Amino acid sequence: HTGEYHDLIGSTNDRAKELAANKVPEGFLVSANGQTAGRGRFGRSWNSPPGQGLYFSLVLYPSLPPVELPRLTLLAGLALAQALENLGVNVQIKWPNDLLINGQKVAGILTEIAAEAERTIYAVVGIGINIEPLDEEVKSSFAYPATALKEHLPGVSRQSLLAMFLERFEKLYEEFKKGEFAQSLTEYKKRLAFLGEEVMIITGDREYIGVLHDLGEDGSLIINDGNTVKRFAAGEISLRR
Ligand code: BTN
Repeated sequence: HTGEYHDLIGSTNDRAKELAANKVPEGFLVSANGQTAGRGRFGRSWNSPPGQGLYFSLVLYPSLPPVELPRLTLLAGLALAQALENLGVNVQIKWPNDLLINGQKVAGILTEIAAEAERTIYAVVGIGINIEPLDEEVKSSFAYPATALKEHLPGVSRQSLLAMFLERFEKLYEEFKKGEFAQSLTEYKKRLAFLGEEVMIITGDREYIGVLHDLGEDGSLIINDGNTVKRFAAGEISLRR
C-alpha cells in the first residue's frame, strides 16, 4: 500500500480528496494520529484527539454511477466488522455505517465522492475507530452511547487492525468491481443491528417509524410500518424504546 501518515492533520478525508483530485493511485491511504477538524456524517464533527483513535481514509476510483456508491460504505463496514471479529470481538453494524459493540458505537464511516453527471471521479472512504477508553466528554459527544475497542480488547494493536481491515476491504472491493455485491450484502445482513425491531429513521427533515424488515439488493433499508413497506437509500436510524 502507498500512503502517507500524519501526526496531526485537519481531516484525513479532506487530505485524501485533495490527493484524489491529483490522481494518486487507487488504494492510497491517508492516516493520522490526531485530527483537528475530523468530520462525521450530517455535518457533525468527529472528535479526534491525538492517540485516542485510528483515523484513516482510502482513495478509490470506482467506475460506478454515483447512486451506487453508498454500497462502498456498506463494504467498508463489513470489512471492518470482519477485521474486528478476527481480533476476537463481536460487532453489529448499524445501517449504513456505524459499528457497534454491545449496542455502543465503536467506529463510524464517512464516504465522500466527487461526481460529474453520471460519472464518479473519485470516492474517499474515511474511517474513525475509538481505540483508547473514552473520557466522559468524548462519550457525550456521540449521538448515542459510545465505546472504545480497548474496553473490549485491552491488548489490541492498531497496526494489525488496520492491516486486517485493508486486507478484508481489498478482497471485498475486488469482488465488488466484478459485480459481486450480493454475497457481501448477505454477510452484512448477518451483522445488521435492530433487524426485526422497531426503529425510527430520520432522512432530510422527515422521520418514519417502523419495523426494520430487510435490506434491498442495492443495500437500501426496508422498513414496514404495518401498512406500507418503505425503502430508504440514506438516513439515520435509531432504536425505538
Ligand atoms: C460518522 O460516524 O459520522 C463518521 C465518522 C468518520 C470519521 C472519520 S476519521 C477519519 C476520516 N476523516 C474525517 O474527517 N472523518 C473520517
